[in-house]
Amino acid sequence: MIRSVVRGFGASLPKRVMTNSEMEAKVDTSDEWIVQRTGIRQRHIAGEGETTASLGEAAARAALDKSGLTAADLDVIIVATSTPDNTFPATAVNIQNRLGMHHGAAFDVQAVCSGFIYAVATADAYIRGGLARRVLVIGAETFSRILDWNDRTTCVLFGDGAGAIVLEAQEGEGTTADRGVLTAQLRSDGAHKEKLYVDGGPSTTGTVGHLRMEGREVFKHAVGMITDVIEAAFEATGTTAEDLDWLVPHQANRRIIDGSARKLGIPLDKVVVTVDLHGNTSAASIPLALNVAASDGRIKQGDLVLLEAMGGGFTWGSILLRW
Ligand code: ACO
Repeated sequence: MIRSVVRGFGASLPKRVMTNSEMEAKVDTSDEWIVQRTGIRQRHIAGEGETTASLGEAAARAALDKSGLTAADLDVIIVATSTPDNTFPATAVNIQNRLGMHHGAAFDVQAVCSGFIYAVATADAYIRGGLARRVLVIGAETFSRILDWNDRTTCVLFGDGAGAIVLEAQEGEGTTADRGVLTAQLRSDGAHKEKLYVDGGPSTTGTVGHLRMEGREVFKHAVGMITDVIEAAFEATGTTAEDLDWLVPHQANRRIIDGSARKLGIPLDKVVVTVDLHGNTSAASIPLALNVAASDGRIKQGDLVLLEAMGGGFTWGSILLRW
């Protein structure tokens, strides 16, 4: 049975770090409020010349280096983003060109904060279906460019960055002991649009627009949706919370992360948390967190790792994989 195995990983963050105390100078907020409600202490903000594609390119180069591969070895590039450099062409094609790759296929997927989960699920389907042997999956965002910097309820929450993994086809026995993606669980429900959306777009206002969120409403749905797709992943693979080595959640809010882990009986010392350092980087948050925990030696080859996210749409999903 063919499995999609992680061969390498990488990440890239904008140079500029913005702390909560710098936020206090922009809007009526406080370090104490932000830390208490979200766990965020700082975020990286893209400066001049830094875009979703440039951050994505840097993360891609790091992941290729770690894999011992070059762009010539790839078949497909998939970029998860809601903040593309241009409405079109896709940011994936932009990154493909930056990498000097002129073969294969590159395209974007858009599922907001669940984007990386959707992109890994798509890459896995390509690999298992025999359409590709190696897929570069990137989550890259510059949410700072769609924030309303006068709206304290949203601008304190988000940051910019990019992360990437290389997935490669490998033959296995088809058991949960094999390395690779074991299951992908995807969900969406467009009925929740008004709770989290961008109030512009090419076909409506002709503008880029700003992120709008009813934070309390999103919060109310988050834990239930996350636990639903995690339980579905356990059920699909015959595994339990006790089998997990690491939970790598989408980094939106410390309270949502802790609440979901507690509800599922996952000890907090098995949860990778980077929201304090990066804020909510939407589709980039999971690969950024994976990069931190795999680089510092926490996530090791053979570990059972669960990824989960919930975001605008609503979209939500989980990936269970053996690293
Ligand atoms: N600084 C100080 N006070 C603030 C701030 C701020 N930055 N923002 C809001 N407040 C005030 C509000 O005005 C309100 O004041 P009031 O009581 O006088 O009216 C008070 O703080 C409480 O506001 P709430 O919105 O009820 O605060 P809550 O505890 O719900 O926390 C938060 C807000 C952090 C946004 C939370 O609701 C949350 O995390 N929601 C989920 C967001 C999320 O996870 N999104 C994920 C998906 S993101 C994506 O897909 C792009």
